[in-house]
Amino acid sequence: MGRLYLVTLLFLSPLASWAQNDYDYPTLWDPNTIVSSSVDYADGDAKLKGYLAYSNATSGPRPVVIIYPDWDGISNYERFRANLLASMGYAGFVADVYSQSVQQGPSIPVANRSALMMPFRSNSSYWRSRAVAALTTVRTLDIAQKDKIFAIGYCFGGGGVFELARAWPNTPGLLGVGGFHPGPLVTAGPKLQPGSPLRVYAFSGADDPGITGDSVVAWKNEMEAANGTWGFYNYGHTVHAFTIMENPVWNGDKNVSNGYNAASDHASWWALRGILLEAFQLTNTSNAYTSAGGAYDYQTGIAGAKLMSA
Ligand SMILES: *[C@@H]1O[C@H](CO)[C@@H](O)[C@H](O)[C@H]1NC(C)=O
Ligand SMILES: *[C@@H]1O[C@H](CO)[C@@H](O)[C@H](O)[C@H]1NC(C)=O
Ligand SMILES: *[C@@H]1O[C@H](CO)[C@@H](O)[C@H](O)[C@H]1NC(C)=O
Ligand SMILES: *[C@@H]1O[C@H](CO)[C@@H](O)[C@H](O)[C@H]1NC(C)=O
Ligand SMILES: *[C@@H]1O[C@H](CO)[C@@H](O)[C@H](O)[C@H]1NC(C)=O
Ligand SMILES: *[C@@H]1O[C@H](CO)[C@@H](O)[C@H](O)[C@H]1NC(C)=O
Repeated sequence: MGRLYLVTLLFLSPLASWAQNDYDYPTLWDPNTIVSSSVDYADGDAKLKGYLAYSNATSGPRPVVIIYPDWDGISNYERFRANLLASMGYAGFVADVYSQSVQQGPSIPVANRSALMMPFRSNSSYWRSRAVAALTTVRTLDIAQKDKIFAIGYCFGGGGVFELARAWPNTPGLLGVGGFHPGPLVTAGPKLQPGSPLRVYAFSGADDPGITGDSVVAWKNEMEAANGTWGFYNYGHTVHAFTIMENPVWNGDKNVSNGYNAASDHASWWALRGILLEAFQLTNTSNAYTSAGGAYDYQTGIAGAKLMSA
């Protein structure tokens, strides 16, 4: 119980003490620039409390990345990702799924996590409503550029962001989603709507025992049927939960389903960063490569010049 109490206090405490508890992450940002707060919102009768972080090194509204937690709910892991995104100039918002009435974090027993998660997994309408509530909430924040929102998630939240994409067109301001070690890939609810403009990306471990070849094919077919913009990143020698640093490094034992893989974690994070630059149109418009739609001179890089492959 002492640990549960500690988690509560950490949620409210300043960032300076944040990195010294629970998971001992190194400082990756200037703590003097990260402003964090909790944001109360609701989905029907459920009272929710999200975590907002942004950098005050810059001012004014900025694009937002929503983070949907894994099955232990909001913990320092998700706040870590929000702070990282804040240090990159975005606003990071950790969505609350389980509600204020649930004590969240790594101390939740595994059996309880399933009990909390399954009602959302088994009812796509219930999940989609809960996920869209976070989206409509961030649009009300002064710090948000209301039409530049991207959503990412981990495990439960990773499969969950695909469900969020499937809620389009009821997804105001959302430009795309990225699911890290997501599960499941497929839905029992309505599939991605044809004509959806959302970018949909999966970052998956090739050795994740929860990701069957059939489900990958079904997911790709669903994306193709919607004629969407999508990508399936498949990281080798990588199992489930490969971005969660406190997991032991996977040793190749096929009986072990979870493990950290630093190379895959970093590669997928940098892939996301590129995807965000493209989705938010933050590339330098003077840059021939990113502005000219491919019509640039191969040798000089001059935009608009006729393609020359010689
Ligand atoms: C930025 O936020 C940090 C953390 O809340 C605070 O210590 C600092 O004084 C703020 N700086 C400015 C310029 O507002
Ligand atoms: C876990 O679930 C059991 C059964 O519902 C409940 O009695 C217990 O209080 C829960 N524990 C925590 C830490 O949430
Ligand atoms: C699924 O969730 C929706 C939205 O919360 C709710 O209206 C519906 O009753 C739920 N269905 C079942 C079978 O629980
Ligand atoms: C599919 O998307 C492409 C590119 O956005 C578009 O040109 C094409 O018309 C779309 N095809 C269908 C069948 O919607
Ligand atoms: C993996 O699990 C299988 C089936 O449960 C078992 O036969 C095998 O010995 C296990 N391998 C290792 C390396 O533990
Ligand atoms: C954008 O690229 C141009 C051409 O390389 C460069 O002159 C300019 O400084 C860049 N702008 C920014 C904001 O980086």
